[in-house]
Amino acid sequence: MRRFKRAFTGLLCLALLAVLLPGCSTRKTSVECVIGVSLANLREQWRLVLKDELEAEAEKYDGVRLVMTDAAGDSEKQEADVERLMSYDIDLLIISPTDVEALTPVISKTYEKIPVIVLDRAVEGYDYSLFIGPDNNLIGRQAGKAVLELLGEDGGSDASVLEMKNDSFASESRSAEFVKTVSEAEVPTRSIDLPEATRDCAEDTLLSDPELLEGVDVIFAHNDYMAYGAHLALEELGVNGIRIVGLDGFSGENGGLQLVEQGVIDATVTCPTGGTEAIRYAVDIINQVSGIPKQIILRSHQIRPDNVADYQRETPLTEKPAVIRVGYAQIGEESHRREACTESIRQAAKDFDVDLTMEFTQPLVEEQTRLVQRFIHQDMDVIVISPVVAEGWLPVLEEARAAGIPILLVDRMVDEEEGMYTSFIGADFEEEGRRCARWLLDELPEQTIRVLELRGTEGSSPAQSRKNGFEEVIDGSSRCRIVHSACGNFTREGGRLAVQEYLEHRGWDIDAIFAHNDDMALGTLEYLAEQGIQPGTDVKIMSIDGTSDALDALQSGRVNCVVECNPLLGPQLMKAITDLMQGKELPLRIITDESVFTKDTPRSQFQNRKY
Ligand code: AHR
Repeated sequence: MRRFKRAFTGLLCLALLAVLLPGCSTRKTSVECVIGVSLANLREQWRLVLKDELEAEAEKYDGVRLVMTDAAGDSEKQEADVERLMSYDIDLLIISPTDVEALTPVISKTYEKIPVIVLDRAVEGYDYSLFIGPDNNLIGRQAGKAVLELLGEDGGSDASVLEMKNDSFASESRSAEFVKTVSEAEVPTRSIDLPEATRDCAEDTLLSDPELLEGVDVIFAHNDYMAYGAHLALEELGVNGIRIVGLDGFSGENGGLQLVEQGVIDATVTCPTGGTEAIRYAVDIINQVSGIPKQIILRSHQIRPDNVADYQRETPLTEKPAVIRVGYAQIGEESHRREACTESIRQAAKDFDVDLTMEFTQPLVEEQTRLVQRFIHQDMDVIVISPVVAEGWLPVLEEARAAGIPILLVDRMVDEEEGMYTSFIGADFEEEGRRCARWLLDELPEQTIRVLELRGTEGSSPAQSRKNGFEEVIDGSSRCRIVHSACGNFTREGGRLAVQEYLEHRGWDIDAIFAHNDDMALGTLEYLAEQGIQPGTDVKIMSIDGTSDALDALQSGRVNCVVECNPLLGPQLMKAITDLMQGKELPLRIITDESVFTKDTPRSQFQNRKY
């Protein structure tokens, strides 16, 4: 309370306050806090919607106050804004950066003192509490699919698409996926960059150069306002028959939803701002709720005339049902980490009063599929899968969808489209691989490095993604390469056998072992020592998971780098299930917070590990 009063007085005195909301009480918390919000600009519609969402959600909490600043698109001003907010003694900062590179230092500096939530575009490194943003690649793909649907089954043969975009980071990644999706159907795309992403600019561009429309069947505009501008230009030019796809899907006058409803444009793809989630998580962070994720990636929807009404129909939030029945298809018990994961889920189910049926299968997709089918027949409220491998899931996911049962993926991913499941909760496996590679290149800065890779279960998402992430980083270096890669199936025995086989057939010429998990790395230690090769000294050992056994080996110098892959997913999963059952939309991906442990990590961080 004292902090709050001090900040409040400071604000009034300085008369710099942008918004200071009175609290109201649809939901009560014990929080008494000031949240600083630094917005990139209040010019673009998307930012205005973000501001409204933040304000609307904050109003639901007693004692939460927002102080907002508008950087007007100027990074230097935004830096100064953050410093000014800090001088008001805010409890937490929410920032939507103008330019992530320029803002990274001030965000890191702020994060040393208070929690920071970054919106829209992730900053470099990990110096923030939580990132919330859309998946721009997915948005591009969905726009591509919307265009192809409008072209119809054989419309692609001599069709052509005009893409109207503007120069921004989000636009670039959306465009790349959009063009890829459309080109795969052999439809040619022409892209034009508009100086401003506005309705007038889109309209004027087409009016001043109508040749741009020659042969065009569909226009994809990177926001609904540009899409509306394109529509006005077509009307003025008397051009008929060109369909329009927009992006953002806001409600309100001339928002994408209304434009689709009125038939002004043919489809739009929603791009959520994350404002509501930012306030909810800010409150949780301030209340020191455990299990806050590191990244929340929001879901986008493809909106057409046939689903626009359903999309806008508000699902009223309901009380948590008395009993939630959950069927969980877990993998076996291949690693120590898996046991910790299972235990965390069981415990959280008890804490959240969820009726959990967790079953284990042999590591075969067919068996796991049969188990999921059984859960479907038992009419579970939610089915959770930790898919042993990434491929082969489409038929059973379709069955679950037909039965109206939501599917949550935990710990492992599937290769199917995002629309086939409700949400993923787990780690960023690619980043884990990148972290190992970055550590290795820093640790051995001069020499050439020959790496032996111990891969996890063939076809599993962590094995595929960790490999990709590691290779992505070392591909940029001419002195580091994987000389041999063997599958150790995530088990101790598998790790030892792979190393033994290599040594027996090829002799020892390895500088580093990159093991996709701790168990495989630990399985090699004794064997290497018996062969006169000191693990950690003669060969650098990197592993992923962060179990206490691996951290003990790190402390004794036999393992050199351990990248955490947090198995304690139970609380986040049960919270997601409860939210879902109350009618809330879940994010597309909830990515856990993880650390890297090396000899330089303070010992205090190793202590009291729960697994
Ligand atoms: O899915 C995550 C992986 O599965 C872990 O890294 C490995 O130990 C586990 O068995």
